[in-house]
Amino acid sequence: MACLSWATKMVFGIAVVICGATAAIADTYDAPRDGTDHKIAPQNCEYAGDADWAQQALNRSTETQLGLPPMVHPADNPPTIEKIELGRELFFDRRLSINGTMSCAMCHVPEQGFTTWELQRAVGVEGRSGKRNAPSLLNVGFLDPLFHDGRDPALETQFIAPMVARNEMANPSVGWVVSFLNRDQDYLDHFDAAFGAKASLDRIGQALAAYQRSLIAGNSPFDHWYFAGMAEAVQDDVKRGFDLFMGKANCAVCHTVADDFSLFTDQSLHDTGYGFMREQKRQHPPESVTVQLAPDVFVDVDFARVKSVSAPLEADLGRYEVTEDPADRWKFRTPNLRNVAMTGPYMHDGALNTLRAVLDFYNMGGPGHPEQSPLIAPLGLSEANIDDLEAFLNSLTSPDLDCLAAEARSLRPKNN
Ligand code: HEC
Ligand code: HEC
Repeated sequence: MACLSWATKMVFGIAVVICGATAAIADTYDAPRDGTDHKIAPQNCEYAGDADWAQQALNRSTETQLGLPPMVHPADNPPTIEKIELGRELFFDRRLSINGTMSCAMCHVPEQGFTTWELQRAVGVEGRSGKRNAPSLLNVGFLDPLFHDGRDPALETQFIAPMVARNEMANPSVGWVVSFLNRDQDYLDHFDAAFGAKASLDRIGQALAAYQRSLIAGNSPFDHWYFAGMAEAVQDDVKRGFDLFMGKANCAVCHTVADDFSLFTDQSLHDTGYGFMREQKRQHPPESVTVQLAPDVFVDVDFARVKSVSAPLEADLGRYEVTEDPADRWKFRTPNLRNVAMTGPYMHDGALNTLRAVLDFYNMGGPGHPEQSPLIAPLGLSEANIDDLEAFLNSLTSPDLDCLAAEARSLRPKNN
């Protein structure tokens, strides 16, 4: 097995080299955060407020973290401090939307794991909602393809979709954004520092990609136990949960685990039955829905009334919408499961609020319609098994999320 060189600076204050899965790391062991602590607090980051956040981001982009493979940067877009700084600036700038109200960070909120905890489906300019949940951007640089339906292979090109989507940033064209940037002296200076040239479509994509590839978050308790051989890094329930994940519950056939790292995704698309189940519900809605008016105050409201004041919910055929091949109906990309305790709500439409609900779905074996993947079948898991699986998923949270949020907020966006 090849030696992995990785920096543990933020956890242990030293850098080490490990060979194989059982190398000792340090004499002292600070327990990394537990994913059941559902908070991300930038103020807890040791270097919060430091001016050299971009240096930290660059280091992270070029070093390999425990549990993760090395980040691969495209040959024509190596990361630099100037690009990462510019990418961050673009990511937080609400002026890059039609009416100056919406930035990337408003759907991918740093303090919410670079997703939106309160929204099942994303809401864009003027409150127009979409049909999908905003994925977390933590570790997004390792993913190919991108989007729930896998329709874009690269971060360099992905950003065009939200910039012009009517229910996201709603710009009339990307050229409109390029000319805005080239009329702003600060941006002209920053593009010049990063690329020696003014803003262009390619350069916007490269800077945003360089910033997003720095959002790396491994080093979880699971990684310390499984890849670094630290028996005390996790409790026994996590270890039992991992055995189920690899065995009886059959999760790892799609959420794959390699020998010396794990992204928990096969980077592929499957019909888990979930999309079909949601479409059945859309076509046959319940007669009434429960609405919460205040804490502990619920009322049942006639569904026809709710429908009369809501935008119609669109069907979501998943991969079919990209290929128009009927065999691709209901297929969605396998999401990575790192930091999953911090990135709810879950699934492509965000309709499952808790990991427990996701585990119940799998235990049931999906709706079992004819096209459903044969890999999804009733599992016969006990409540205790589900507790263990949940503990395992909770052990995948990185200790670095506070610092990633602190870096993101270390400069005030201009937005004026
Ligand atoms: C209105 C909310 C919203 C805004 C604004 C927004 N996004 Fe997203 N983002 C989403 C949603 C929803 C998806 C999933 C869409 C899909 O799969 O069809 C997504 C997907 C992504 C993905 C793919 C992630 C993955 O796991 O495949 C990336 C990368 C991304 N957005 C980056 C950005 C960037 C960069 C910007 C700003 C230029 C931005 N987003 C603006 C809601 C938003
Ligand atoms: C056939 C492949 C496959 C198998 C087997 C599988 N998954 Fe998934 N998983 C997926 C796909 C595809 C999605 C996305 C579904 C969607 O969005 O509609 C998903 C979504 C999830 C999510 C939601 C993540 C998020 O960010 O929204 C979790 C959690 C999850 N799976 C855990 C598990 C666990 C635990 C098991 C084993 C009990 C398992 N999966 C088995 C393919 C699979």
